[in-house]
Formats: sequence, structure tokens, C-alpha cells
Amino acid sequence: MQFENSRTFAQQLDAKDPLAKYRNEFIFPQINNKDAIYFTGNSLGLQPRSAQNYVNDIMSDWGNFAVEGHFQAEKPWWDYHERFAEQLSKVVGAKPKEVTVMNTLTVNLHLMMVSFYRPTKKRYKIICEEKAFPSDQYMISSQVRFHGFDPEDAIVELKKRDGEHNFRTEDILAKIEEVGEECALVLIGGVNYYTGQVFDMKTITEAGHKVGAFVGWDLAHAAGNIKLELHDWDVDFAAWCSYKYMNSGPGSASGCFVNEKYHNQKDIPRFEGWWGHNKDRRFLMEPEFQPEDGANAWQISNAPVLALAPYLASLQMFDEVGMDALIEKRNKIVAYLEFILHEIDKEVDSTFEVITPANQEERGTQLSVFLHGEGKELFNYLMQNGVIPDWREPNVIRLAPAPFYCSYEDMYEFGQILKRGILEK
Ligand SMILES: Cc1ncc(COP(=O)(O)O)c(C=O)c1O
Repeated sequence: MQFENSRTFAQQLDAKDPLAKYRNEFIFPQINNKDAIYFTGNSLGLQPRSAQNYVNDIMSDWGNFAVEGHFQAEKPWWDYHERFAEQLSKVVGAKPKEVTVMNTLTVNLHLMMVSFYRPTKKRYKIICEEKAFPSDQYMISSQVRFHGFDPEDAIVELKKRDGEHNFRTEDILAKIEEVGEECALVLIGGVNYYTGQVFDMKTITEAGHKVGAFVGWDLAHAAGNIKLELHDWDVDFAAWCSYKYMNSGPGSASGCFVNEKYHNQKDIPRFEGWWGHNKDRRFLMEPEFQPEDGANAWQISNAPVLALAPYLASLQMFDEVGMDALIEKRNKIVAYLEFILHEIDKEVDSTFEVITPANQEERGTQLSVFLHGEGKELFNYLMQNGVIPDWREPNVIRLAPAPFYCSYEDMYEFGQILKRGILEK
């Protein structure tokens, strides 16, 4: 499609956008008495208007029923978490019983390591990407040390080639083959948090399995953003937070995928708790653990229903719209943003560099822009003038126009603000 850098053109795109009506379903922060141009759905998604009602329902049920709310509430609390599986499995491409919601992301990754990182003297290495999200680095390093290995030796980092911003699949495959039978686990962020690069999860999962390793994915930046087919790709496990593209509120619960081939497998260890116990017998308080069917067996504590409520509200919208429609708009709005960036770059003779892959298959909603010579001052200008992007050292702003609530006119308006910011500097 031939884009134009004009308000009229952007408004025409909005008029034809089948998802445009969803913008009103979200609450926007106000800057200078206007809805902010919100680019940080990859960090904390906006609040769906319906979330408040879902939370209020629980507060009312708590007031009205107190402990009986576990069974008497409109959405009883004792199996509240089970309401997610059907809808969430469509978002991540899984069977409903392979999906559960519990805890928070890093906690779930640790729990998945209990099941899928069981190093031996011969097979103990973990392959991950260099400069992975810090929490993942700490998690992996502490797991390795917990098992008595040296992180320097046991953690193998995938590298980018000199002068390149993104990982090459061929290099990842070569590294997996090289580590070979020493490789216990491949664990990578499905979408790189810094550059927005989408990894070829199917091919990498296959390669990991070929050398006899487990393969897991941190999907913090992937869930609700890109097409996932976790079951068909034969992924072993995955976990994601829900507060980014899934709009479920700060610190809300994490989702977890455990491939059905490991359900009820006695040689896969697990940390257990009463919410993973056979739900029909949960309140009989029996001493012997009887696992629930599927990923729910990995549940530990009773469900944090107040944190889950906004997630359920948001999931309702995902179900209504579907990932395919979201991805269709995502591709178009990201392409429009990229076009606007290039246009402004030409107009003001600046030197932005989009470091996210140009190929649509290798990116989702996020564009990471390297601001050669511009820097924090420009970022601050954007913040003061109605835009909420995100800053990453040393010189990158991340822009993620979430298709649920961002408009094409936002992209045009952003371009104008950016131009003024550069010219005024
Ligand atoms: C890629 C990635 N991994 C892990 C985390 C940590 O998530 P949590 O604090 O919910 O454990 C984040 C948080 O932003 C993230 O982006």
C-alpha cells in the first residue's frame, strides 16, 4: 500500500479500520488534556474499561459472601483460574489443558526449570540469547548455581554478528548443534525485548530437540502480539506475563504452557501445592498429592482472583477480536509508523535507524529506533508533548503501537511532534 504522511490519509485509514471501535474500550493517560499517544503497550498495556467491573464483582462477592465466595460468587474463586484456558489457548496456539495462569513470570520460569532443567554431568548447558532480559539472566544463572554448576561454563550465550542488530537463525542453529549433547535446555525470549526481533520458534525448537535438549520460551513480548503455535511447534514449555500486550494490569498473573506430552509423566518432577491437586478432592485435605489433569497440575497456591480479574476482562476482548485480526492491523500500523519515521528522517535530515528487522515475519508490534546523536533530550521532549514511548540505554526508543487501541492518526501526530522536537533542539 502507498502511504502518505498526512492527517487526512491517516484519518482515512482509521475510518476503514475494523478495530477502531476498540480504542474507546481503553482508558488513556492524559497529557496536556489529551489522550496520550501510547507506545508502551509492550511494557504495560492500557486498562480495558471493563476491568473495573470484573474487579468490583470480586470485591462485592467478598463483601457479600466472605469465605463462601469460593463457591457462591458469581464466578467462584476456587476454580477462577480455569476460566482462562479455553480463550488463552487460542492466543498462544495450544490445547486448553496445556495452558494455565498462576504466579508471575519469573516465578513460573523458575518452576518450569524444576521440571525441565535437570542437568547431569554430561548434559548441563543452557543456551540463551546474549543480553536476555535481566530477570531471565538472573533466573538462569541462579538455577545453574543451584545445581552446582558454574554459569561461566554452563550458560552459552547466542551472539549477534559484529555490526548487526539481530540474531541470525543459521547462527542459532549452528550453536545448538555445536553444544550438542551437552545442551540440556534452550531458553530464549520469543520476541527480543530490546529490538523486537521475533525468533523462528518452530525451527529453533526442532533443532533443540534434535540434540536431545528441552526447549522453552519466555513469551513476555510475544503473547497477544504475534501468532503463536506452541502445540504444533512442539514447544516443551513457555511462560509469559499478561501486563504487556495482554492488558491485564501491573504485576498481574503469568500464563504458562506445558506440552501435553509431559502431563502425568512421573519422571517429570514438579514443585507441588494444593491448587494443583485433583480439584474434586482438594478440600478433603488428603496427605497424598493427586495431580490435576494438564498444566493445572503445576498450580501451587489458591488463585489471586483480584489480580486475575482484569486479565479475564481483557481476554474477553481478545476472544472477540481474535489474533488474526489483531495481527492484520498490527502489520499495517507498524508499517505506517515505519513509513512516518523514514519521512520525518528525510525531512529533518536526521539519522534514525530502525534496528528491528524490516521483514514482517521477524517482527511484531515493536519498532526499536536507534537515535544516532539525538538521545534522551528528544525522548524527554516527546514525553512532555503527548507521547509515551520507552527509553532503553544507550540510545534507543521503543515504539509499540498496540493494534487494540492505537490509531493511524496517532502515528501521523507522533511524526509531527518528533519533527518539532528535532527542529527545536
Ligand atoms: C522478557 C521478559 N522476561 C521477564 C520479565 C520479568 O517479568 P516479571 O517481573 O513479571 O517476573 C520481563 C518483564 O518485563 C520481560 O520483559
